[in-house]
Amino acid sequence: MTLDLLGYKLNKRSFADLAEMLPADVASCLRPLVGNPALSKSNFSNQVEAALGNKLTQQHLTVTLREAKRLQIKRIGRYVESLRTTFFPSTSFTPSLLNYIRLRPLFFSLWFRFRMLRHFGFMVLKKKPLVHKLDRDQKEYITQDVLPYNMSQVAMFLEGHRYRTERIILLLKALCGKHTNTQQVLCVGPRNEAELLLFSLHGFPLKNIVGIDLFSYSPLVHVMDMHDLDFENDTFDIYYSAFTLAYSQDVERASAEAIRVTKDDGLMVITMTVRGVALLTGKPADRAPGARDMLELFAPYVRHVYFQENAEWQQEHMGDDESTCVTAIFSIDKAAGS
Ligand SMILES: C[S@@+](CC[C@H](N)C(=O)[O-])C[C@H]1O[C@@H](n2cnc3c(N)ncnc32)[C@H](O)[C@@H]1O
Repeated sequence: MTLDLLGYKLNKRSFADLAEMLPADVASCLRPLVGNPALSKSNFSNQVEAALGNKLTQQHLTVTLREAKRLQIKRIGRYVESLRTTFFPSTSFTPSLLNYIRLRPLFFSLWFRFRMLRHFGFMVLKKKPLVHKLDRDQKEYITQDVLPYNMSQVAMFLEGHRYRTERIILLLKALCGKHTNTQQVLCVGPRNEAELLLFSLHGFPLKNIVGIDLFSYSPLVHVMDMHDLDFENDTFDIYYSAFTLAYSQDVERASAEAIRVTKDDGLMVITMTVRGVALLTGKPADRAPGARDMLELFAPYVRHVYFQENAEWQQEHMGDDESTCVTAIFSIDKAAGS
């Protein structure tokens, strides 16, 4: 049913909105008419105009109708939002709809590889080297030892490593809760962009993440040595090092740099293979070194250990693929060592 009120065509809904929004005396005249099934289409307008008398002016109606339209749009918006929250609820732990789609393996794989091709293409065009700013000895070590293996692995991340990376990111996300989107993250030795992209898809914004590695094809990853970080003291909330510390030739220096650039009470995430822990700690080979041995590398700065995992536990719970990893997530007490 449409109603012609002072030249405006109104349907039942906008008429009801109008009755809600008009001044009390005008609304009280309209209310008995709203939804009255006894009123026929033909006499409805007359009844309304008669009930209102001259209480409603044209200007008054125009302003109120505009408001009523706005209300209608808001109502549609609320309806769409309620559909979204019903079918795609977003809590601190569920990704947004767009990120949910980007996390699907096929989409992620295409996105990751497309970005890689674009960056490599750009580097070739601009004749930009993969390695720069490092001294000659380092360059030699990187070009002979680091690059050949790592470049063969650059595009391979998704096949084997996504699972182990994402698992740690989700643990971190659980620890950071509602502060996830403000955490400054240093990602040490990501090799490619995948770790950083996964961090961002799980709620750590890309603008808050810095990657460093001995070589880089991406603007997200700076060429830098973990033993000599070019960052101010207390810059990061999270220092994330997955399978990188094991390559240190001076672990004391690398851990001192890690402590220096991380804020007091910030989080350290260190994961490496059992072999890596054995190498760094010099623990006897007759027993598998665990997270406790690894934590000793950061003593006396370890404040609270949120998560520690040994190879045996992984073997039992996760299956063989991940069975050689040792992981610890802990906060640091910077005053403890001074
Ligand atoms: C085994 S990969 C780890 C890749 C990735 N983090 C992962 O979990 O799959 C080790 C990475 O550490 C980098 N790396 C080795 N020594 C480094 C150093 N001194 N400073 C920074 N990065 C280093 C290597 O270039 C390589 O990309």
